[in-house]
Amino acid sequence: MKGALGPLLLSLLLLLQAGGCQEVKVVAAVGDTVQLQPNTWLLSWVTVNWILKRSSQTYWILKYEQNRTSASPFLPFADRVSFHPGNLSLQINSVTEKESGLYIMDLKLTNGSKVTSNFRLFVLDRVQQPKIKASTSQERGWCYVTLSCLVPKADWVTYSWSRGVSSSPAPEDHWLQEHQADLQLEITKSGNNTFYHCNVSNAISWGMATIDVKPLCNYTGKCPLCTRHTSGDRDV
Ligand SMILES: *[C@@H]1O[C@H](CO)[C@@H](O)[C@H](O)[C@H]1NC(C)=O
Ligand SMILES: *[C@@H]1O[C@H](CO)[C@@H](O)[C@H](O)[C@H]1NC(C)=O
Ligand SMILES: *[C@@H]1O[C@H](CO)[C@@H](O)[C@H](O)[C@H]1NC(C)=O
Ligand SMILES: *[C@@H]1O[C@H](CO)[C@@H](O)[C@H](O)[C@H]1NC(C)=O
Ligand SMILES: *[C@@H]1O[C@H](CO)[C@@H](O)[C@H](O)[C@H]1NC(C)=O
Ligand SMILES: *[C@@H]1O[C@H](CO)[C@@H](O)[C@H](O)[C@H]1NC(C)=O
Repeated sequence: MKGALGPLLLSLLLLLQAGGCQEVKVVAAVGDTVQLQPNTWLLSWVTVNWILKRSSQTYWILKYEQNRTSASPFLPFADRVSFHPGNLSLQINSVTEKESGLYIMDLKLTNGSKVTSNFRLFVLDRVQQPKIKASTSQERGWCYVTLSCLVPKADWVTYSWSRGVSSSPAPEDHWLQEHQADLQLEITKSGNNTFYHCNVSNAISWGMATIDVKPLCNYTGKCPLCTRHTSGDRDV
């Protein structure tokens, strides 16, 4: 598995928000340090409250007032949370998937107004190394192959397929239109592009597996062309 984005980029997520009730979407990898920073930090304020809404539960995270932070001891990740009053940012170390949810910061301004900032945090696992499983059937010179790209925990992932002449992906490879885990193929001897690559990605990472379909078929050489069949509307 290779990460598409550097860990540095992910470890510090600085997100500014236009204020109001809009949500800022934040995507992080398990284990990252996340900072949720509202763009209201230049305002003159007196009190800050951070809360988390997750599923049907609401957790009070902390309150900052008169130079003091009071944090909830009941928060499941209380030991990994901290608050920076200078820039209003809420920092969560070593995030896990359980910290996904809606983070709300309520700011009480010196003039009595209230300002709310919302952050929707998604914590994702890095995509693990995919595997390609092949099943073959042969009929009158045609070889039918179904390739299944398998990856543990396939939530929030996207599949893409390409094929080419070598076991490592190359710029001249053909990208296939299929964007699901399974790929159905009809193969004959004369095809050169027998290496299929499956790329599984999510918002933070990707992984790739490759298979050579050449050894999967007993060619009888009756069909001169190598045709590919699309596998319909299956969406994974
Ligand atoms: C907070 O700290 C600053 C600087 O340390 C100080 O000037 C200010 O009076 C303090 N405010 C309160 C309410 O204690
Ligand atoms: C906010 O301030 C703290 C402490 O000064 C700093 O460590 C942190 O990187 C700042 N966060 C952002 C998002 O600028
Ligand atoms: C308080 O200050 C904020 C930011 O400067 C401003 O947007 C808001 O209208 C003010 N509210 C009142 C009641 O004056
Ligand atoms: C297969 O590749 C070889 C060399 O790369 C090339 O000479 C040949 O024409 C190719 N065959 C087909 C059917 O594309
Ligand atoms: C796999 O897909 C991801 C996301 O689209 C992309 O960033 C990455 O470069 C791809 N890897 C290869 C080898 O094509
Ligand atoms: C190809 O031939 C071998 C040996 O005759 C046989 O074991 C294998 O099952 C055949 N494969 C297919 C896909 O028919």
